[in-house]
Amino acid sequence: MKKIVVYKTSTGFTKRYAEWIAQALGCEAVSIKQESAKKLKDYELVIYGGGSIGGSINGLAKIKKLYTGQMIVFQTGATPQEATEMIEASAARNFTEEERKRIPYFYMHSGLNYEKMSPVEKMMMKMLKKMLAGKADKTEEDLEMERMIAGSFDECDKSYIDPLVEYVKNLEA
Ligand SMILES: Cc1cc2nc3c(=O)[nH]c(=O)nc-3n(C[C@H](O)[C@H](O)[C@H](O)COP(=O)(O)O)c2cc1C
Repeated sequence: MKKIVVYKTSTGFTKRYAEWIAQALGCEAVSIKQESAKKLKDYELVIYGGGSIGGSINGLAKIKKLYTGQMIVFQTGATPQEATEMIEASAARNFTEEERKRIPYFYMHSGLNYEKMSPVEKMMMKMLKKMLAGKADKTEEDLEMERMIAGSFDECDKSYIDPLVEYVKNLEA
């Protein structure tokens, strides 16, 4: 199968996962910035990855425009791998029911990197912190979120790519 990994990254986490996946599958990983509909047309499978921005998959709208063939999507995020309900809710928000049937979706826990965030991203995080700090009756989720976004962390783990890699290998078998 002629396949390619395409990613959009801001702070580098998704790029790292994209490169691990490409290495495991023996294909190339490229930034969406370098891609065009014309270049992607030749591929039978595009594996697309983007970070979670307020639950939305970064660059998903763009890749959907660039490529209409067979696609697999992975999302990286600060949300822990075990938070399956939140991850499922995120998938439901990013895809229509029809898309969910034809686009396999995978989640890979990453982290936060304040040093590499863009000024806009830094501001968004600041607003989120302020909003949480100002809450009167904090729920357990609010407190957990506050702890999670307090500073940079990196929880990337190569083994999180395994379900996606398995899925592609089965497709090709
Ligand atoms: C502005 C902003 C919003 C974010 N929102 C979420 C979120 O809703 N859920 C989540 O799990 N992670 C969230 N994150 C964390 C990123 O999804 C995570 O760091 C991701 O791996 C970034 O990918 P990148 O380094 O490839 O850009 C957010 C990060 C930023 C900067």
